[in-house]
Amino acid sequence: LIGRLNHVAIAVPDLAAAIALYRDTLGATLSAEQVLPEHGVRLVFADLPNTRIELMEPLDTTSPIAGFLQKNSRGGIHHICYEVGDIAAAADELVAKGARVLGDGKPRIGAHGNPVLFLHPADFLGTLIELEEVR
Ligand code: CO
Repeated sequence: LIGRLNHVAIAVPDLAAAIALYRDTLGATLSAEQVLPEHGVRLVFADLPNTRIELMEPLDTTSPIAGFLQKNSRGGIHHICYEVGDIAAAADELVAKGARVLGDGKPRIGAHGNPVLFLHPADFLGTLIELEEVR
């Protein structure tokens, strides 16, 4: 069902500081900054040879990751993203197996312009999983 690891996402309290850390200290190549109001975040991707690291900062206190940062004030790993070929079929199969899709269960458009959805962390070893359709 799942394919490649698309990215690991880290919630950060200060995106500019996180960019400097990944660019200057770790020497990573970063994408342009994106603002995703529907997801309540601004973000950049660090492009690594085999995957990406998503660095994301909440847009405001209503952001879904604002609560995460209240509990993890210096930042922390927020979710991991796996690629799937057909996100609707993947969601149907997972729901049939007893997993819960967050929100209304419908895919939304994510940072790469592809449909994404999130799976309940309680069903997956305490890890928030994002599925991204990559065809
Ligand atoms: Co993500």
